[in-house]
Amino acid sequence: MARTIKIFDTTLRDGEQSPGCSMNLKEKLDIAAHLEQLNVDIIEAGFAISSKGDFESIQAIARKIKRSSVCSLCRAVKTDIELAAESVKDAKRPRIHTFIATSPIHMEYKLNMSPEKVLEKAVDSVKYAKSFVEDVEFSCEDAGRSDREFLAQVYSEVIKAGATVINVPDTVGYMIPEEYGDLIRYLSNTVVGIENVDISVHCHDDLGLATANALSGIINGASQVECTINGIGERAGNTAMEEVVMAIKVRDDLYDCKTNINTEEITKTSRLLSHITGSVVQSNKAIVGANAFAHEAGIHQDGMLKQKQTYEIMCPEMVGLSENKLVLGKHSGRHAFVDRLKECGYTLSEDDLEKAFIRFKLLADKKKDILEEDLHALVSDEIYQVQEIFSLDNFEVHATGEDQPKATVTIKKDDQILSGTESGAGSVDAIYKAIDKIINEKINLIEYTLQSITGGTDALGEVVVRLRDNGRVFVGRSSTTDVLASSAKAYINAINKMLVARGKKRIKATL
Ligand code: KIV
Ligand code: ZN
Repeated sequence: MARTIKIFDTTLRDGEQSPGCSMNLKEKLDIAAHLEQLNVDIIEAGFAISSKGDFESIQAIARKIKRSSVCSLCRAVKTDIELAAESVKDAKRPRIHTFIATSPIHMEYKLNMSPEKVLEKAVDSVKYAKSFVEDVEFSCEDAGRSDREFLAQVYSEVIKAGATVINVPDTVGYMIPEEYGDLIRYLSNTVVGIENVDISVHCHDDLGLATANALSGIINGASQVECTINGIGERAGNTAMEEVVMAIKVRDDLYDCKTNINTEEITKTSRLLSHITGSVVQSNKAIVGANAFAHEAGIHQDGMLKQKQTYEIMCPEMVGLSENKLVLGKHSGRHAFVDRLKECGYTLSEDDLEKAFIRFKLLADKKKDILEEDLHALVSDEIYQVQEIFSLDNFEVHATGEDQPKATVTIKKDDQILSGTESGAGSVDAIYKAIDKIINEKINLIEYTLQSITGGTDALGEVVVRLRDNGRVFVGRSSTTDVLASSAKAYINAINKMLVARGKKRIKATL
């Protein structure tokens, strides 16, 4: 009988931890709801000690999610564990995930602890976590560069202390598939009590091997995979859920296992995450990239017309991808709008629905055909907004093609209207300089991207900007049919997020 591999999604923790991928409470709740629709077994909702916002979002997710387990991460530290326990206490299926580093380099330089002390802390933390919940996962951070015998000793002892899952992270993405698989096989043959717990794989993608390593772990006995949507995560990211799930499904002849994932939800969730974080998925990305199912070469198209399987190993419908069909137009009513939103994976509150519908009508006046992608952009623009300290009132640009363009921008702040005029290398530069002048704050723009959401000159132009402030990255996004308006709004959106964060204190807790 095929084994079932549990899917542990860490988009909201390891994924959210990466620069520019931070999400607010509403965004996290919506992603969690999509993860539950996908039928993931475990949602790692955050790292409770890292900030008040993280704690509150884990708590809110724990209260909302019913089918999947909800997990909270903590270091092997008493106060961390208490906060993690508190954050998931209302979950139907709570899990605490505690970890400590076991590699020589981490123990010596980061922890400044002997291996004996690390072992003691690992055991104590699992026992303490176990006093709050039944389901306790334990990770040896940097297991990939740890001594195998020491790993086996730590895992044996934490299982004795009550761990239900042991996780084997390749924290720095250093391992290659044969080596990682061999480590999992060694642990499954050596660790005492291993037959009573899940062995989990957690791979980072620094060498582009995260999915291959995770699959190698599965072949060698792992029963849980930790992964993120679109592979987001620290540095080069984590194992991409869509890749590992589809590899298991498409090559079930080889793996002889299955997952509980409802694969038809994959595209929807990937797009939502990409819109929310402003993290664009590369077009040739496996499974969810824009070109993943596109056949351009004549010889391929010819083969496809004769027999799809000549060049297709899975059909787009398996991952919920349909043609980017016309969904709505100027005369579509509220009912059709709600239906289409549901098809795209959104169930909005009455308030949000009203805002989105007004925005849709405005867009339909300017753009003849509203496509599925337009709806994603519209919803993420309208619904996932932060508290607006500043908002764009108006702008005017004078550009002749010869002299430097000049922009006058007016911005609302409470009931004040503020105005500024500046010249720049181009129209966007002039607008941004005018905004800087009005806002009068230190702003460090590190990235500006513009892309057309669909074809045609009336398409929505989506602008994503990234600002860096105090080591954190803030993403602003906007899509309208006018690229200059999108540019101004995206910039102000990122500035608002940055200013809101400056007003909040973040508790420092590093992994
Ligand atoms: O990569 C890592 O080691 C982690 C642990 C906290 C599980 O994310
Ligand atoms: Zn990780």
